[in-house]
Amino acid sequence: MRVDAELIDKILSLKRERNAVILAHNYQLGEIQDIADFVGDSLELSQDAARTEAEVIVFCGVLFMAETASILCPNKVVLLPDINAGCDMADMITAEGLRERKRELPGAAVVCYVNSPAEVKAESDVCCTSANAVKVVESLDADEILFVPDQYLGHYVSTKTSKKINLWPGFCPSHARIKPQDITELRQEYPQAKVVVHPECRPEVIALADEVLSTGGMCRYARRDDVTQVIVGTEIGIIHRLRKENPGKKFIPVSEQAICPTMKLITLESVLRSLREMTPEVKVPEDIRLRAKASVDRMLEIV
Ligand code: 13P
Ligand code: SF4
Repeated sequence: MRVDAELIDKILSLKRERNAVILAHNYQLGEIQDIADFVGDSLELSQDAARTEAEVIVFCGVLFMAETASILCPNKVVLLPDINAGCDMADMITAEGLRERKRELPGAAVVCYVNSPAEVKAESDVCCTSANAVKVVESLDADEILFVPDQYLGHYVSTKTSKKINLWPGFCPSHARIKPQDITELRQEYPQAKVVVHPECRPEVIALADEVLSTGGMCRYARRDDVTQVIVGTEIGIIHRLRKENPGKKFIPVSEQAICPTMKLITLESVLRSLREMTPEVKVPEDIRLRAKASVDRMLEIV
């Protein structure tokens, strides 16, 4: 524990020296969340990145999140403390694959979940996150949508709109591990509990939930006075924040299998190393950045 305290002191003093801000996603290890300046979902963290005055952003999350920060803040240094922290879902689509599918669906507007490479955002009309996907789709003039890359989020959106939604076959392996039976068993054990799930879950799981929310939405929901026990259907890292912010309430992870291994790659040691060496830096090439930024900006105008 003493080692951690020393490590944390070093991180915080180097952070001041570098004029850096530490952003952490809700799935990060508890000790990373605890040293961060801001903890949030993908949308909240892109908004934090867009408005920060710090010169350096230490992004404790995965590659697509650091890329989004780089897209929005080209003059800042964006560090991802472990460059292997990718997103399996984002790796299920390429710009070339998307261009091919667009040729097959010339009338469809392309809505791209932020969990995607910058090159794919650059090929899209607008981005969305789990917090605003329905709103973004509804805001478009087009009646036909090509939704990439998450088929389950896209399916969820299709149940909330009359637009025709074409899906891409991507998914999140961590959320796909959550089974309907995990929920039905826990509901029997905790009959008073509310069930919240992330829209990256399978439709059969979503059908059993009381609320379908982004991770930021789950944190706000948990603060409500009428909510005291929650079965939480998303990556287990969020349980740390929920318990910390809501002492006395009960949070039950729906499945211990719902772990995103790349989210756990970032450690206090890698954050310190990253701040010391100012690497690995994530920088999106300017031609891609400008086109990707148009899609991200369109989203930020809508929310
Ligand atoms: P949120 O934007 O809801 O935090 O989701 C990000 C993510 O990667 C979920 O797997
Ligand atoms: Fe990607 Fe799934 Fe991990 Fe989120 S939880 S970063 S979608 S692999």
